[in-house]
Amino acid sequence: MSVNVIAVDGPAASGKSTLARNLADRLGILYVNTGSLYRAVALKALRLGIKTKDTAALSAMLQQTSLRYAKDADGKLDIELDGTFPGQALRSAEVAKGASDVATVPEVRAWTLEIQRDTAKENTIVMEGRDIGTVVFPDAKYKFFLSASPLARAKRRLAQEGETLNGATLESVAAEIAARDKQDSERAVAPLKQAEDAIAVDNSDWTIEQTLDYICDQIKTIDANA
Ligand code: DC
Repeated sequence: MSVNVIAVDGPAASGKSTLARNLADRLGILYVNTGSLYRAVALKALRLGIKTKDTAALSAMLQQTSLRYAKDADGKLDIELDGTFPGQALRSAEVAKGASDVATVPEVRAWTLEIQRDTAKENTIVMEGRDIGTVVFPDAKYKFFLSASPLARAKRRLAQEGETLNGATLESVAAEIAARDKQDSERAVAPLKQAEDAIAVDNSDWTIEQTLDYICDQIKTIDANA
């Protein structure tokens, strides 16, 4: 299918986005954040007053929805929902929770699968998500599964503007992350899990630069053995 894809999967706040974005910059290729697809679906549903687990209403909504990756002013691929870039509106805690809900709906996943595969047809990309190495591109040449300790992840999430509710504590954020992990890992369709041939990377005690260097070394090793 696509050997062009570098798949980066892992749970919430495991450092995927930072790593994937930096990796794409270092390699001079495009970065695609697939969580944005589920966040955009959740954002539209919330705006329309549709429940984020209401399969029938979500399916009907998707018939009237246009979602794609388009280049923004900086030439980066960003999600475009019904003709506009929702940007920061996707980063609220409410949308994050709704995204985890809509991501359990098979109709939503079937719809987003096509968008993800279409995006890789035209571009060499680093694609970040939960099921890239298992479902979206099982034949990707490079697959990484990032993880970090619950404490490291809660600290990272707390430092991310917009992602936590006012008054959130380390404990409440850790509990919210654990709830999302549970829902993402236990859903029937395309659950969060490490692909058998993915390289596992626990970056709890690493800097951003160390993680990036390690992944680049692994890519070089894969290329050398190809
Ligand atoms: O990575 P993120 O926090 O933006 O993802 C938001 C939600 O979307 C997350 O709870 C799980 C879901 N998701 C998914 O099911 N599959 C993907 N490839 C990416 C995200």
